[in-house]
Amino acid sequence: MSKKENNKAEVENQSAKTNSKRSYETDPTLKDIASNLNDKFSSLREGKESSPVDCINIFEKLHPPAGEISSFAKQIGELPELKVDFKNSLNKIASTFRNAFSNITEYNEINSQIKELLIENFFHTARALAIAVEARDPYTGGHSDRVFQIATELGKRCNISITEQLYLEGGALLHDVGKIAVRDGVLLKPGPLTDSEYKEMQLHTIFGSQIVKRMSCLHGCVDAVLLHHERMDGYGYPHGLKGKEIPLIARITSVADAYDAMTTNRIYRKALSHEQALEEILRNSGTQFDPEIVKVFLIWWEDTFQKNPAKSKELYKYSK
Ligand SMILES: [Fe+2]
Repeated sequence: MSKKENNKAEVENQSAKTNSKRSYETDPTLKDIASNLNDKFSSLREGKESSPVDCINIFEKLHPPAGEISSFAKQIGELPELKVDFKNSLNKIASTFRNAFSNITEYNEINSQIKELLIENFFHTARALAIAVEARDPYTGGHSDRVFQIATELGKRCNISITEQLYLEGGALLHDVGKIAVRDGVLLKPGPLTDSEYKEMQLHTIFGSQIVKRMSCLHGCVDAVLLHHERMDGYGYPHGLKGKEIPLIARITSVADAYDAMTTNRIYRKALSHEQALEEILRNSGTQFDPEIVKVFLIWWEDTFQKNPAKSKELYKYSK
């Protein structure tokens, strides 16, 4: 058997096992249907009934997995009382079922390959956009990538779903993509911004969300891009959302973004040390940042900066 066929058989077996376990052990309705089916079979075997149609109808209600359909069809086909032509049509039904299910398995295989390609495409696109932003402002070199790495680690420690983790990672990479649309005079200004310039700078969240929204593969990242400057106390922007109104991936990105921004030199100020930046994050827990995420952040920080200096050096190797 080839490797592909082996994998296919394994997937099919696994799926049959999982489905069968889920159906009969956890669902009382299905359990009743299954026992009703057993009774019908006994009646057929004992010759009390001559038509297997009831059995087929009951069996259908079980939404059986592939492995059980063929064994069921075999049991019916082997009943001695059945006429030959009926047996033949049952065999035909069984083989149709088998083909349908093998197509589904193949479909699942192709589907997972497509998913992998989509995820790859997702990150290529996100990275390309992040590079485009950093080309506008080389002073922030590597910021998007470090925010991506920090947010990825925080997400893993928050036990979020696989899909949310994917959107978090993409969103963290793209959080400042809207800066593409901010004028040089504002984006690269060496001194403090005026009120109107600051308002213009804040628009990068809206511009970014508009860019990301238009790309179907990145659509799930919109929350992180649009809302990474919201604050727990409601004084953030662009919408002034409060607490848990701010989606989780935006709350995580906010901590990762603020930390990295503080620890790297900017055109208008010098970097804080990692210890000073940590203190700032802790000081703003509950007002700017979600305290639960700050707790997770502290664990990540200790793992990275105290227990594993090589890891922290690697993370900040390109920072200026
Ligand atoms: Fe930002």
